Amino acid sequence: MDKATATDGQALVFARNFFKNPKMLGSLIPSSRFLIKQLLRDVKWNDVRVFVEYGPGVGTISGEIVKRMRPDAKLIVFEINDDFVRVMKNRFHNDPRVHVLHRSAADVQDALRELGLEKADCAIAGIPFSIMKEEDRQAVLRNTHAALRPGGSFLVYQFSSRVRADLEKIFGPVHQGFEPLNILPARLFHCVKV
Ligand SMILES: C[S@@+](CC[C@H](N)C(=O)[O-])C[C@H]1O[C@@H](n2cnc3c(N)ncnc32)[C@H](O)[C@@H]1O
Repeated sequence: MDKATATDGQALVFARNFFKNPKMLGSLIPSSRFLIKQLLRDVKWNDVRVFVEYGPGVGTISGEIVKRMRPDAKLIVFEINDDFVRVMKNRFHNDPRVHVLHRSAADVQDALRELGLEKADCAIAGIPFSIMKEEDRQAVLRNTHAALRPGGSFLVYQFSSRVRADLEKIFGPVHQGFEPLNILPARLFHCVKV
C-alpha cells in the first residue's frame, strides 16, 4: 500500500530502529504528508531521469516519488539501516525503476557509475547531517554536488538549519522553506548545481 503516510507496521519498524540507533535516524517517526508535499512540489518530473534518495527509512517519500516519476526514470535509494533496506526491497521489488542500495549516501558517485548512470537530475536527503561526523557530512555533500548534472536539484529536509552553511559553501545560494506540520517542524533547503 503506497500512501504518503506510513502504515502502522512501517511506523513501528521506524520507531523500534530509532530506539536502537537514534543518531542514525535522527527522528522517531517518518516524515508527514505535509512535508512530503512541500518537498516534492517544485520537482520538474518530466526532466528527471535519475532521482537519488538518501535515507528512505520505510519509503514514505520514495512511495510518492515513484507515483510521480516518469515510466523511464530511475530512483536509486541509499540506506545504511539493515531493517529499512529489507523493508524497502520488499516494498519496491515489483518496480524495476527502483534500486535499493545498502550503502551510504557518500557512495553516490561510485554507485551511479556502477549502475551505468551518468549523473543525477535530482537528489533528496533527510539524513541527520547536523549530528553526523564532519568528514561524513562533507563527503555526502561534495559527492552529491559532483553526482548532479548542471541544473540538477538537491532537496534537503532537516530539523535544524545547521547544514545550511555547508550547503552554501558547496552549492552557492540556498532557498529555504519551513513545514510546521511535521514532528518535529522541518526546514527545507533547495540547492541547484550551477
Ligand atoms: C530521519 S530518517 C528519514 C526517513 C524517511 N526518509 C522519512 O522521511 O520518513 C533518516 C534516515 O537516514 C538514514 N541514514 C543515516 N545516515 C545515512 C547515510 N550516511 N546514508 C544513507 N542513509 C543514511 C537512516 O537510517 C534513516 O533511515
